[in-house]
Amino acid sequence: MLKILVVHGPNLNLLGEREPEVYGSMTLDDVNEAIAALADELGVNIEFFQSNHEGIIIDFLHDRRKSAHGVIINPGALTHYSYALRDAIAGVQLPTVEVHLSDIHKREPFRRISVTREVCLAQISGKGVDSYLEGLRMLTEHLRSSSEEDLQSFKT
Ligand code: DQA
Repeated sequence: MLKILVVHGPNLNLLGEREPEVYGSMTLDDVNEAIAALADELGVNIEFFQSNHEGIIIDFLHDRRKSAHGVIINPGALTHYSYALRDAIAGVQLPTVEVHLSDIHKREPFRRISVTREVCLAQISGKGVDSYLEGLRMLTEHLRSSSEEDLQSFKT
């Protein structure tokens, strides 16, 4: 079964109470529940992870690089400046989709820059929880259309 990591970066643990006018009223648990429901439908396995710390997210990606098939990541503000996270995404060689709840292209100028986008398959932004759901569908399709060798059959 495909194993997909869903990684939430800094401050996303506060969803629901954090700037609800920007990020909506769903909590992180609500978001994860919606993702889990779609994962069931698609028949993929999800591991959820959230950290407020750049290095801990990088360690997590390193640690799972041989046991997972792909990543959905909302890097939070790390999106805009973390070359270390960008290098980690490139380095672990797991197909990755970058997602954002808010539309980062219609907010402050600093948010329009993503240093992680270039090493991701796609960026989906501004659709609330649907950014994650669309990302999961896209990634699953991508992984399923890859050859068996690419999927590294030793992974379970
Ligand atoms: C965010 C957008 C980022 O600019 C911000 O720093 C976040 C959340 C989003 O999901 O819209 O923490 O990634």
